[in-house]
Amino acid sequence: MAIQSTITLNNGTVIPQVGLGVFQTPDGDTTVNAVQTALENGYRHIDTAMIYRNEASVGEGIRRAGLPRGDFFVTTKLWNDDIRAHRGKDAFQESLDRLGLDYVDLYLIHWPADGWQQAWDDLQEIYASGRAKAIGVSNFQKHHIDELLANSDVLPAVDQIESSPQFTNHELIGQLRSKGIVAEAWSPLGGTGGNLLGSPVLAEIGAKYGKSAAQVVIRWHIQRGVVVLPKSTHVERIKQNFDVFDFNLTSEDMTAITALNTGKRNGADPDNFDF
Ligand code: A2P
Repeated sequence: MAIQSTITLNNGTVIPQVGLGVFQTPDGDTTVNAVQTALENGYRHIDTAMIYRNEASVGEGIRRAGLPRGDFFVTTKLWNDDIRAHRGKDAFQESLDRLGLDYVDLYLIHWPADGWQQAWDDLQEIYASGRAKAIGVSNFQKHHIDELLANSDVLPAVDQIESSPQFTNHELIGQLRSKGIVAEAWSPLGGTGGNLLGSPVLAEIGAKYGKSAAQVVIRWHIQRGVVVLPKSTHVERIKQNFDVFDFNLTSEDMTAITALNTGKRNGADPDNFDF
């Protein structure tokens, strides 16, 4: 198996660049099996959240895979209701308890819900306690990051945002990079029910390398320097989505994929969400 790529975050934490996303992966056997399958096939990074309601199953999948704790990376996220209720520290401990871990590698503010400024203070305390090896944000626009940095000396390690060839979010990714914040892509394959993977452009590029449209898209994210979190509940797809370290897209390929951008989000708008 080719060696997977990693990125060093601004606090020195090393993050594997491809992680298994488990948004909408049902709690119970489906999540347990997806996580165990991923870890047994080379993944070293799992991305969950309190609101996915599958943290306990993520923990079970991790235990079944039997890897030493230092060998894998786990992210979870503080949900909006807990942000609004100023429950950051309690909610974090509840996530740890469900996961059955005594630390996570990365803890994120899930959305810029009212109260996120205090939540950022809570995350800094959690970080100082050693129970999160890095802290960051998700769905923050440039103006949220600017406000955060005006009030805090601590730089988020990452901002997890929607990004795919259909909604590249290129400008925000560049703004984050200029501040030393790594972008992580959610809905990297265009999301469940999307039509991205049917694109003839991706099929044509994939044919050159013997790779699927999904593998081409994951490789595009990797070569942009973004952390990519593809989701699948199918064993063959989970394996396929990690078989992306043995080919390189050319700059012409990269440009053709980026040209699929429609500028339209698949998911919610961080400046106008109602949950
Ligand atoms: P499934 O879980 O049934 O495999 P995203 O990561 O952008 O949210 O999109 C994930 C969607 O793409 C899911 O619906 C997933 O479905 C599907 N998917 C994941 N990997 C592949 C793949 N290699 N080929 C085709 N579809 C995939």
